[in-house]
Amino acid sequence: MDIITEIEQVFAKYKNIPYLGEGVTQLQHALQSAYEAEKARASDELITAALLHDIGHMVHDLPMEDPNYVGFWNQDDSHEVVGEKWLARGFPEAVTQPVRWHVAAKRYLVATDPEYGEILTAASMHVLQLQGGAMSPEECAEFEAMEWAQDAIAVRRWDDIGKATGRTTPGLEHFIKIAKRCARTPAQ
Ligand SMILES: [Fe+2]
Repeated sequence: MDIITEIEQVFAKYKNIPYLGEGVTQLQHALQSAYEAEKARASDELITAALLHDIGHMVHDLPMEDPNYVGFWNQDDSHEVVGEKWLARGFPEAVTQPVRWHVAAKRYLVATDPEYGEILTAASMHVLQLQGGAMSPEECAEFEAMEWAQDAIAVRRWDDIGKATGRTTPGLEHFIKIAKRCARTPAQ
């Protein structure tokens, strides 16, 4: 099965699962994040990274079928690492690396942007602590030097504003078309 079909199946399965105690579902959060990227005229790769940045929450083995799933309230599921590995089967680094580093970007922004902490929701703040809290100055310097830092920060900012209840966005099929344009053809 190609990765695009897998993505459609994952979203079909988890579209009604609430996102992290916010007022949106996993699917709505993905669509809102991708739409913010598109409105910012981001590349196909970054729009796709925004759409899929939390796919790791949906493809791990924790019990998400439970509609009251709150596993990551008390346990970091390392969804950015899970997501990167899952996506690397079908997408280039320009998609997978912003996904890999979007949690680090939050830890970086909390440390460097005084206003950033104020826009984080209570749920996101709670999870931040599980993810290691604000970066130290040394960690910030290391993060800034990384090739994907700016892309990861961009995805992070779209992620943070993609949590509004009742916002209208294009449907999944719109963003799947964009994802198809940057998917790698599987090795034969
Ligand atoms: Fe997210």
